[in-house]
Amino acid sequence: MLIRLTYASRARNLGPMDVKDILESSKRNNQALGVTGALCLSNGIFLQCLEGDRAVVNALYHRILLDPRHQDPAILDFDEVTHRQFSAWSMGLVSAVADNQSLFLKYASGPEFDPYQMRPVALRAFFNELIQNTRWIG
Ligand SMILES: Cc1cc2nc3c(=O)[nH]c(=O)nc-3n(C[C@H](O)[C@H](O)[C@H](O)COP(=O)(O)O)c2cc1C
Repeated sequence: MLIRLTYASRARNLGPMDVKDILESSKRNNQALGVTGALCLSNGIFLQCLEGDRAVVNALYHRILLDPRHQDPAILDFDEVTHRQFSAWSMGLVSAVADNQSLFLKYASGPEFDPYQMRPVALRAFFNELIQNTRWIG
């Protein structure tokens, strides 16, 4: 059964190489697991979308939770889906480069990007737009 899980967490003690390291292990592991998705980092908050088999995504999420590079995880959306949004990405990174700022803020209710406050319908629209129109890294 194909599902999509979206969660947010707060970055914690991130060193300069950490995001690169997270992305590299994500690409390697997720490809082997048949997991696709996207990872955003903006305003000190990670927002990650993971797509794949329900049991596989659950297990991966629980492994990611153990990572000391983030804290305060919250599942924001979890649903069965008919198809993948990120079929081409084992894990794409979207960072808060200037080009992406307006997209982040378009879906923010306040002056800063805060996915903890976003509703599932807004999260889906955000990721949808992200795919069409974003500067991806990695
Ligand atoms: C916000 C965040 C997102 C992550 N996403 C993934 C992911 O999608 N896939 C993954 O394998 N590891 C992810 N990681 C890294 C894992 O916590 C862990 O470091 C990694 O899977 C270890 O891989 P390795 O044993 O192959 O080195 C993430 C870490 C953080 C902090």
